[in-house]
Amino acid sequence: MPEVQDHFDNLEKISLEIADFPISNADELEKFRIRYLGTKNILKDLFSAIRDVAPESKKAYGQKLNEVKQQAETKFAEQQVLFTTDKKDGSKEIDRTLPVAPKNIGARHPITLIREELIGILSKIGYMVVDGPEIEDDRHNFTALAMPEDHPARDMQDTFYIQQDPAMVLRTHTSNVQIRVMESQQPPLRVMNLGRTYRNETITARAHCIFHQIELFYVDEGVTFADLKQTLLYLAQELFGEKTEIRLRPSYFPFTEPSAELDVSCFICYGAGCNICKHTGWVEIGGCGMIDPVVLENCNIDPEKYTGFAFGMGLERMAILKYRINDIRLFSENDIRFLKQFEHL
Ligand code: DAH
Repeated sequence: MPEVQDHFDNLEKISLEIADFPISNADELEKFRIRYLGTKNILKDLFSAIRDVAPESKKAYGQKLNEVKQQAETKFAEQQVLFTTDKKDGSKEIDRTLPVAPKNIGARHPITLIREELIGILSKIGYMVVDGPEIEDDRHNFTALAMPEDHPARDMQDTFYIQQDPAMVLRTHTSNVQIRVMESQQPPLRVMNLGRTYRNETITARAHCIFHQIELFYVDEGVTFADLKQTLLYLAQELFGEKTEIRLRPSYFPFTEPSAELDVSCFICYGAGCNICKHTGWVEIGGCGMIDPVVLENCNIDPEKYTGFAFGMGLERMAILKYRINDIRLFSENDIRFLKQFEHL
């Protein structure tokens, strides 16, 4: 029977061996693993030998054994990071100079896609993106846009008021940016704002209390309705294809005069009749008009010298039409199955 000292010596030898074991590729790493950590590793016999060790030395021996085992495990873990085998053929090493494998980084949200598309289209004709506050005062959201208190047009834009300060609201549209920009800068102004808007709406498949809009406006000397029409035609054709036609239907907004609703020819059925256009051949996409002189005056812009047009449109509506989304709630539910469908865009 081997002496206890022999066991200790053996362990010491193995420890040195582990330290010196050369590992410079996956094969050597595997040899190391089999020898010290595999099912028939050489430490096993030494573990069994604990039976033979005198009781007073058992503790020290056990400790030493565990130390050596630990040493092997640590070395293996360290080297494994460097030399890992390709699982399929078990032989290839990873070439760490190659570019990293593409990670799944998700997809852009459909509202972001629409937003970026609009910015691209409109910046080509000189529109500049500006920011605007979502928490807005009554004047910028309503009054200066010719919607004084008690104006019936406010009914359609009920919103969320801030409790400590009832004069502050969550903006109901991006039109507040018209006022914000015009009161701080003189024309020529060619500006767009894209952002979140709020209304006190019951949430359904077709309406939400949080949505997004784009606001567009152009103020300069001699801006006419013809400029508005041509700009909208350009926008519609860039968005839906060059065969797209537009139609302006008379409408009413307190801050524009005259006002119109913008329809585009149905880009799904091209007039043949479908569900999207409700068999009319036309799809409504936004509101527009010539900025009311009163609004210019409210911002200290001389309406005798300058004229301008404005246009506003919902981004959800645009995305719904473009990507055939059937429920507006999907935009804010963060359901990965919905978002994944936009990966390729
Ligand atoms: N602000 C309007 C709304 O949210 C949309 C709108 C209509 C914007 C006409 C405009 C405009 O700039 O000229 O209902």
